[in-house]
Amino acid sequence: MRVLIFGKTGQVAQELQRFEGITALGREDADLNDPAACAEIIANTDADIVINAAAYTAVDAAETDTDKAFVVNADAPKAMAEAAAKRAMPFLHISTDYVFDGTGTTPWREDDPTAPLGIYGSSKLAGEHGVRAVGGSHAILRTSWVVSAHGTNFVRTMLRLGTERDALNIVADQIGGPTCARDIAAALMHMARKLIDDPSTSGTYHFASTPDTSWADFAREIFTQAGLSCDVTDIPSSAYPTPAARPKNSRLDCTKIATVFNINRPDWRIGLADILSDLKAGTA
Ligand SMILES: NC(=O)c1ccc[n+]([C@@H]2O[C@H](COP(=O)([O-])OP(=O)(O)OC[C@H]3O[C@@H](n4cnc5c(N)ncnc54)[C@H](OP(=O)(O)O)[C@@H]3O)[C@@H](O)[C@H]2O)c1
Repeated sequence: MRVLIFGKTGQVAQELQRFEGITALGREDADLNDPAACAEIIANTDADIVINAAAYTAVDAAETDTDKAFVVNADAPKAMAEAAAKRAMPFLHISTDYVFDGTGTTPWREDDPTAPLGIYGSSKLAGEHGVRAVGGSHAILRTSWVVSAHGTNFVRTMLRLGTERDALNIVADQIGGPTCARDIAAALMHMARKLIDDPSTSGTYHFASTPDTSWADFAREIFTQAGLSCDVTDIPSSAYPTPAARPKNSRLDCTKIATVFNINRPDWRIGLADILSDLKAGTA
């Protein structure tokens, strides 16, 4: 299976590049600010399937950079999906828990009503609509709280702060599933193989690791596993204001992906141990 990936430096993109048969395009090869150019690349590829692992992911910056967020997260995936559909090539796209408003405590199902709280979530939702509207063979994988040994993410931030400080106040009223980029990459590759064989598996799927937790408890587990002594105090989101509001309930119901693809929720505590061991060994 030859897989063309948009995104090279991102958390999920880097984990996808561990697999065989991958061609990964960085910003210098394919800039999502130019959707037509991205479509042109797909029109000329010899790949069997396309995965879009690139996105405008700066949640707070998106609040004031609306046009760019929508071009990268909505216009580009739509143009890519159209180009892929013209060649009967499946298109895999990644989306987010931020398409939901975070009310309640029930895990969100794929067909629950969406109501993003900010520009990032709205732009990602528009991207989903665009990909679906094309009507080609596709899968949209909504995930949450992505972490890895690369880039900017909560694990790396906590490892830095945990060595600098004795105590931290961390938000405890947002609940979700931390999800390791490596597990997302494995899920995408599994879905890619199935989607090529069976286009009827097209659709939207939720995938997040288990157990659901708060950022505060996630931080505690990071410090425990890393052997750092840093006290964590629970605080409400209201005590840590950010330009973009975050959903409080980010729990994703992952029943559908288990039923259709036989992909089960991994335990993020095991993925966290792998991230820490990669960082320690310098193999990230
Ligand atoms: N991070 C999370 O917590 C989270 C949660 C839920 C869903 N997701 C979704 O999961 C997917 C992967 O996220 P991630 O955490 O792996 O992302 P990431 O680490 O923030 O990486 C984003 C990638 O997109 C690329 N990119 C951004 N703008 C681009 C442009 N104009 N042209 C070409 N490439 C561009 C970046 O390239 P540069 O290095 O050149 O900027 C980078 O490779 C995204 O669809 C995201 O929305 C993420």
